[in-house]
Amino acid sequence: TRPDDHVIVLFGATGDLAKRKLLPGLFHLARAGLLPDGYRIVGSAPAQYAPNDDAFRKHTHDAIAAFGRSEPSGPVWQSFEDSLSFGAADPQDPAPLLAAVRAAEDSLGGQPRRLFHLAVPPSAFASVIRMLGDTDLAENSKVIVEKPFGSDLASARALNETIHAVFDESRIFRIDHFLGKESVDNILALRFANGMLEPIWNRDHISHVQIDVPETLGLEGRAHFYEGTGAFRDMIVTHLIQVLGIVAMEPPVSLAAQPLRDEKAKVFEALRPIEPGHVVRGQYDGYREEPGVAPDSQTETYTALRLEVDNWRWAGVPFYLRSGKNLAQHREVITLGLHEPPLRMFRADLPRREKDRGNKIVIDFGDPGWIAACFLAKEPGPTARLAPATMTFRYAESFCQKHGLEGYERLILDAMLGDQSLFTRSDGIEHIWEASAPLLGNPPPLQPYAPGSWGPEPAVTELIAPHQWYLPDADGDAIEVLA
Ligand code: BG6
Repeated sequence: TRPDDHVIVLFGATGDLAKRKLLPGLFHLARAGLLPDGYRIVGSAPAQYAPNDDAFRKHTHDAIAAFGRSEPSGPVWQSFEDSLSFGAADPQDPAPLLAAVRAAEDSLGGQPRRLFHLAVPPSAFASVIRMLGDTDLAENSKVIVEKPFGSDLASARALNETIHAVFDESRIFRIDHFLGKESVDNILALRFANGMLEPIWNRDHISHVQIDVPETLGLEGRAHFYEGTGAFRDMIVTHLIQVLGIVAMEPPVSLAAQPLRDEKAKVFEALRPIEPGHVVRGQYDGYREEPGVAPDSQTETYTALRLEVDNWRWAGVPFYLRSGKNLAQHREVITLGLHEPPLRMFRADLPRREKDRGNKIVIDFGDPGWIAACFLAKEPGPTARLAPATMTFRYAESFCQKHGLEGYERLILDAMLGDQSLFTRSDGIEHIWEASAPLLGNPPPLQPYAPGSWGPEPAVTELIAPHQWYLPDADGDAIEVLA
């Protein structure tokens, strides 16, 4: 289905996110023939950043050339470029933006829908929303709000109130691009389209779950954003707990937005308040010397923690989440560890470290991603020796031509279509902040770690004992135990 005609207004059009993901993503949608027949893209930013249409077109061209998947050239680029215009945003003086949106609508004709994308720092969300409400811009429109959505329960509630004063919930799209990743979406298919895994997807069979997103990236010049955010809000609350929602949810009655989001919200409601003693906060050596970072910064660049979901299915199953900057590898991996069998029949047993490499279901949700069942097999020969083995499904092999949209692309398309299934809802977010309150009120001290390492030592020992962090090699061929 193609969306109705749209004017897309991109706030923060000259920012980092727009440059790396949003402008290249919109162009990719145009190339894939998934934008509406009639569309216009109005970039917006404070006037000093990009003063006119031509500068914005050049900016967009350069962003796509640097970060896009195809060159900005040829007829698709021509019509994409023609659709671009710029309207400076100043909440005190919305006139230039209003004029640009009207001009875009007039050039399309008919009654196009408006889609606002707030790719601005969280501190600017409220003033942009109020500006949309004070002018007639909010009419006939939807809004995509970036993350993090609030910094604690009170601020998330206040932000929800501000937005609800202008937009009803059905027009609000709180975005988390991890939920737009094919391989995250596929978790629903893996669980609910097959009879194979769901019967064991519970506390009776699963001993623990890991959601592990180490990054090799450092600060990338984002001190302004990151200093006030840190790893817990930037990654754990925003992305990893959302993924946990999909892993832990009950089967929804259908895949429609409401039942899907109801089930996720119930998981977040069941999160046990996070104990500060179950959290390791780290900061990489050298972070305080990065441009724009305070010399005594208390911002964590790493968080590992243990969560509990207090419901019938998951009671007693720890969920270990980990993410940090400047770590040894860049990965996006979910590991479900299964209980050991009740009886040890193989006397020539493996050492613990080797044995732990079997008995797991691993989901790599990087792009394009894979799923592996890891088990122990008998080595050929006259002794009962075991060896770890894997069976792996790889997206790139099974669906090489079909794999298509990146997270943001899928979600911007869904927002145009009005499908909220993969967007977060106000109650869900508030439950997460509620569970975070003890940690935010009493954060454990920062622990230093060396860039390129696996982060602070206590996270790979005490926090996760008696388990260990497992990571498969990048092809899903073998599980490594990272202790
Ligand atoms: C963003 C965070 O939301 O997600 C970044 O702000 C992080 O700090 C990024 O690096 C990771 O996303 P991806 O999918 O591009 O690796």
